[in-house]
Amino acid sequence: MAEIGIFVGTMYGNALLVAEEAQAILNEQGHKATVYEDPQAADWAIYQDKYALIVTSTTGQGDLPESIAPLFHFIRDSLGYQPELHYGVIALGDSTYSHFCGGGKQFDALLQEQNAQRVGDVLLIDASEDPEPETLSNPWVEQWSTLLK
Ligand SMILES: Cc1cc2nc3c(=O)[nH]c(=O)nc-3n(C[C@H](O)[C@H](O)[C@H](O)COP(=O)(O)O)c2cc1C
Repeated sequence: MAEIGIFVGTMYGNALLVAEEAQAILNEQGHKATVYEDPQAADWAIYQDKYALIVTSTTGQGDLPESIAPLFHFIRDSLGYQPELHYGVIALGDSTYSHFCGGGKQFDALLQEQNAQRVGDVLLIDASEDPEPETLSNPWVEQWSTLLK
């Protein structure tokens, strides 16, 4: 059984829907998953030696939504080295924009820099191809769940 914090960055709710479905799947498989819709530094701290699943869309020009940008800045400016953290990333975007899935990619790059250990590949979801993101994310989460210890 793993403890997973699901950290959400969303503008219109697509990423939140994906996160809530991920939580249900992970809990069904015997893990303990909690969704953080407006994630704070204190929430992140709970998972420093556990699992974080970042589920974020992209806004602006490859930017993180307001709901998760402060957490990203805190991690970048105040943490630095997180070798005990395991994480996964589900990135929502739209390939008609020039910085496809830039928000999720930025988060992955930051955690890689800080020596956190990624579990599985980053899932990139393209709204222009798949208007229902959970049809891609649910099978990904089911598989991701089997990689957790
Ligand atoms: C104003 C605006 C800017 C966006 N900028 C990007 C972008 O730079 N790169 C990208 O891949 N998608 C971009 N998108 C697409 C969203 O990330 C995508 O529609 C996503 O599914 C929205 O999910 P959400 O409801 O969780 O915010 C943008 C969408 C809007 C409305």
